[in-house]
Amino acid sequence: MAELGSDIHRAAAILKGGELVAIPTETVYGLAGNALDPVAVTKIFDTKNRPSFDPLIVHVADTDQVYRYIREFPEELRKLADAFWPGPLTLLLPKKDIVPDLVTSGLDTVAVRVPSHPVTRALLKVLDFPLAAPSANPFGYISPTRAIHVEDQLGDRIPYVLDGGDCSVGLESTIVGLEQGQLIIYRLGGLSVSAIEEVVGPVLILPQSSSNPKSPGMLKSHYAPRTPVVLGDLDELIVQFGRQGEDFAVLSFTKDYQGIDDRKKVVLSPEGDFGEAARNLFSGMRFLDKAGVSVILAEELPEKNLGKAINDRLRRAAAR
Ligand code: TXA
Ligand code: MG
Repeated sequence: MAELGSDIHRAAAILKGGELVAIPTETVYGLAGNALDPVAVTKIFDTKNRPSFDPLIVHVADTDQVYRYIREFPEELRKLADAFWPGPLTLLLPKKDIVPDLVTSGLDTVAVRVPSHPVTRALLKVLDFPLAAPSANPFGYISPTRAIHVEDQLGDRIPYVLDGGDCSVGLESTIVGLEQGQLIIYRLGGLSVSAIEEVVGPVLILPQSSSNPKSPGMLKSHYAPRTPVVLGDLDELIVQFGRQGEDFAVLSFTKDYQGIDDRKKVVLSPEGDFGEAARNLFSGMRFLDKAGVSVILAEELPEKNLGKAINDRLRRAAAR
């Protein structure tokens, strides 16, 4: 199994040797390797069983470092960087040749982000290369928000998991790009649309599907537990599935459904706090995935604030 620890210098030594390390970020744990080394990048794809047409995010220590890897920084995107980095925002920027095509799947843009987690920021500062890092889960499964989630699933494939505790945001970064002067959100995530629009005005949210060549990773069925997920009105679903004699679990936003075993229910946020719900979403799905039930019943949140991104993940988990 992978060694689990909080030694930045040990992590740095492994990365310098061309191997992979799982790193904590405020969004989710990442599976990191030297972004400038195609051999290390190939190991990332292999370890995750990820198709190589799905490009990776490059993580850097600060905004100044981004210029080493991009040809230009359009003003609208720079404004977002100034407002939200370090933080759960990824920007698509025109790449320089120094970024291997393998990282961007041959696209002309590179996805870049400055994470805010103190452990990974410290790690990036001692490295002289950026880190390519997708979420540290097998392709298609739920992203990890705790070191133990990584250990459970990829522990036999990587030497070291850098433990930075529970992720404070719990949803992947929001991905933003610019096309013909129009700001576009390619993936809803841990930074809300409303926060972005306060800084740059109205943005377009791309309807996400596997047929969208601009963001090949946005497969409809993704972030999914192994157990089927059914979305709808929970009160009705519970009656319906109960009547069918089905063994189900319940993932609710605020309501604690009485009479359901504690091992078969998760309340994302009793007080209705979107941030708390986001933090609990993936660990909640993992918890219920282990409950041994035949179906997970879940409900959408109000379509505001982080509710938009949470609903996006729930719908993908429910899509089969
Ligand atoms: O919060 C996060 O973003 C986490 C942490 C580890 O930073 N990373 C993450 O990476 O979620 P990953 O690989 O699971 O998702 C990256 C997404 C993919 O859907 C990919 O298609 C998209 O970013 N992407 C990467 N480069 C792109 C590009 N040049 N153009 C369009 N989409 C891109
Ligand atoms: Mg992922």
